[in-house]
Amino acid sequence: MKTKTEETSSIKIYSEDDFKGLKKAGSLAARTLEYIEKLIKPGVKTNFIDEVANKFLNDHGAFSAPLFYRGYTKSICTSINHVVCHGIPSDQTLKEGDIINIDITSILNGYYGDTSKTFSVGNVSIEAKKLIQLTYESMMEGIKILKPGITLGDIGFAIQSFAESNNCSVVRDFCGHGVGKTFHEEPNILHYGKKGEGLTIKKGMVFTIEPMINLGEYHTKVLSDGWTAVTKDKSLSAQFEHTVGIIDNGYEIFTL
Ligand code: MF3
Ligand code: CO
Ligand code: CO
Repeated sequence: MKTKTEETSSIKIYSEDDFKGLKKAGSLAARTLEYIEKLIKPGVKTNFIDEVANKFLNDHGAFSAPLFYRGYTKSICTSINHVVCHGIPSDQTLKEGDIINIDITSILNGYYGDTSKTFSVGNVSIEAKKLIQLTYESMMEGIKILKPGITLGDIGFAIQSFAESNNCSVVRDFCGHGVGKTFHEEPNILHYGKKGEGLTIKKGMVFTIEPMINLGEYHTKVLSDGWTAVTKDKSLSAQFEHTVGIIDNGYEIFTL
C-alpha cells in the first residue's frame, strides 16, 4: 500500500488486452498466496515463506515487485499481529495464535498483480477470528459496489461504515493505489470517506482495495527499520487486498 500523498491528475485507462495481462499477473499472485498457505504454522520463519514465494513466482516466469523496490530487500511482506503492513520477513518464527498478513505482488510480462490475505497460525482468539472475517468483508463491501460512475468516496464510505459499525477502526496512513504497468499509480484509494466525494471511477481503471482494520484505534507508526508499520496502541490489525479493473457494468477481480 501507499503512504498517502496529494492527488494529482493522470490516471491510466487500461485496454482489454491489458486486462488479459493483468489477470494473468493477478492470478499468479493469488496462486502464490495459495501455495504458501501450507507453511503458515507454528515454528516457521517468515524468511522461509519469503524464499518459497519468490521461487514460486520465478518458476512461473514472474518477479517479485517488492524485491529491491525503494530499498526493500525481501520479496513479500509479512505483517504479524499488531503490524499493520510492510512487515519485513526475518528469522522470526510464527507462534500458535498469531495472525499474519502475507502481501504478494507479482510482475508478469510487465503487468503487476497485488494481493494479500490474513491467515491464522493454528488456533487464534475469537477476537482475532472476528477481525480477520470483518476485514475480508470490509474489502468486499468496497469491491461489490464498483462500476463506472461511482466515486472514490463511495468506496471509502462502504468500507469505513462497515468496519466502524463492527466496532473496529480503519487505518488512515496507508491506502490502496492505482496499479497496472507500474506498482503504485494514481489514484490513492482511501478506505474511509464520504459518499459522492472524490473522483469518479471510469471503465479501464485498475486499482487495489486493501483495507487495514484495527481492533483498537486507527493510529499507526513506522518502526526504525523504515518499513514496519504498527498500531500505536499495539492492537491487532488485519488486511486483505485485491487488484480490480473497472468494466462496463461493474468490475473484474484480477487476483482470484
Ligand atoms: N504490496 C504492497 C502494497 O499493497 C506494497 C509493498 S511495498 C514493499 O502496495 F516494498 F514494502 F514491499
Ligand atoms: Co497494494
Ligand atoms: Co500489496
